[in-house]
Amino acid sequence: MPRILVSDKISDEGLAILRSGGPDFEVVCDFEITPEDLVRKIGDFDALVIRSRTTATKEVIEAGRRLKVIGRAGVGLDNVDIAAATRCGVIVMNTPEGNTVSTAEHACALMIALAKNLAETTASMRAGKWEKKRFKGTELRGKVLGVIGLGRIGTIVARRMQAFGMSVLAYDPFKTPEAIANEDCTPATVDEIVAQADFITLHTPKTPETANLISAERIAKMKRGARLINCARGGLVDEVALAKALEGGHLAGAALDVFNEEPPPADHPILKLGNVVLSPHLGAATAEAQEMVASDVAKQIVDALTGGPVINAVNYPSVDPAILPRISPFMELAEHLGTALSQLIEGAVKELRVTCAGDVTEFPTKAITLKAIRGFLKRTTDVTVNFVNAIPLVEARGVKVVTLNEPNAPTFDSLITLDVTLADGSSRRIAGTIFGQREPRIVQLDGQRIDASPEGTLILITNRDVPGVVGSVGMTLAKHQINIAQMNLGVDDAGRRALLIVKIDGQAAPSVLGEIGALPNILSVQQLAL
Ligand code: NAD
Ligand code: MLT
Repeated sequence: MPRILVSDKISDEGLAILRSGGPDFEVVCDFEITPEDLVRKIGDFDALVIRSRTTATKEVIEAGRRLKVIGRAGVGLDNVDIAAATRCGVIVMNTPEGNTVSTAEHACALMIALAKNLAETTASMRAGKWEKKRFKGTELRGKVLGVIGLGRIGTIVARRMQAFGMSVLAYDPFKTPEAIANEDCTPATVDEIVAQADFITLHTPKTPETANLISAERIAKMKRGARLINCARGGLVDEVALAKALEGGHLAGAALDVFNEEPPPADHPILKLGNVVLSPHLGAATAEAQEMVASDVAKQIVDALTGGPVINAVNYPSVDPAILPRISPFMELAEHLGTALSQLIEGAVKELRVTCAGDVTEFPTKAITLKAIRGFLKRTTDVTVNFVNAIPLVEARGVKVVTLNEPNAPTFDSLITLDVTLADGSSRRIAGTIFGQREPRIVQLDGQRIDASPEGTLILITNRDVPGVVGSVGMTLAKHQINIAQMNLGVDDAGRRALLIVKIDGQAAPSVLGEIGALPNILSVQQLAL
């Protein structure tokens, strides 16, 4: 029975989706849970739903013995230890779309309020004054806006403010100058923006590169009378230097929705200034955005717990639901090939190479590779291997993972090949394809052409290519009441050795395998459970 803990308040729509996720879904809401209680209780849950109040620390994640997924209703994941989650095989997902417009509108609203001094004029009138001469605003038309981080929110802010007649300079190191120009923005460096912009708005995540991006030095270099808006994350701006620049008159105003420390301490210098507009991290706090992020996270969690498509996971390859039916057979095939290969080898592994060739390379092959690794590992560990921890687990064993995509596949439309190199320098290879729409086949073993269905129990027998072997193997299995479901024979290129693959119902006991091994002309016998 999947149990879901919702530890931050999300909208009723989201809760309803979680509750109707399945007949046996149990949803527990504890919006006030303390960090200590969370560590104590999380072991009973399969999923954790959070916003920004809860911090999913390493301790929480490690205590989550059955935890499969953490869903954040919102964007920022600075309150989740993603590395710990990845190590423990826990999917971490957010809802990047739901609050984009709300937050962009918030940034625009702050910018307009700053230009027209609306916070100060409201305070002045509340104090019973009518100070028409004291306040003179500025037009946005014709001004230069600097957008730092031209992602989802930054792009909407740029578009909205262009409608006010602003020209936009944009910095985003992960966007090409063409992509920036396509938004009618001029690509610029941070320092160019700092030197030229009348308004600067920040829309980057907080990373080691963006922490203190608007430093004291950069604030000093901003245009006299410029204004700064931060609706992204606290820590991007040196708030003390900002307060000084506002107080000294170098900057005309600043608007902050996010702070280094939330809430900021009562003696924070920014709180004492008049020419600021402040909101307590409310960018996403609209009814529409909260409904959307809650519904999105709930649907994503239900899908993740019921084997549906996993989307918006930051540590798991997302597969577009539209292509899932076509890529799934290849993913399953890759897992079976990995499981088969792991049983063909003995000894330490140096390298595992996964090659996707032909038509299959049109798909995101990372999901196929991870399935191959999962198959390769799953019989050798009691940790649940999933898309999240497959690579860290295999690398922790000193195995180098190499992935290759080749546009052309020899002989087949698509071919997935797994090569393993052992520490003693020996290697083994297995390859498979999909016949028709969904029929998986192993088509190569160590360079030998074969044709076997990669499911159930297979007995691989190498033998001298002489008459009578197939009959004697069949008789031995029949003697032990073992039914043969399928039998395929391959001959190596030199034509001296044959590979007999017998698919049986159930499993053969080691004594039966020993009996087959002792038959005349048999060179080796191995049973694979797929
Ligand atoms: P996004 O991922 O769509 O955009 C972020 C952009 O920043 C990307 O285009 C990325 O390339 C760029 N970027 C990354 N590193 C950069 C760097 N060193 N310099 C410049 N640009 C860099 O994210 P988004 O949805 O647009 O969100 C932007 C920010 O807003 C995030 O920090 C998010 O947490 C925050 N946010 C705040 C609120 C709020 O309530 N105030 C709500 C939603 C999002
Ligand atoms: C986010 O990251 O989505 C925003 O900061 C809003 C929130 O914290 O919910």
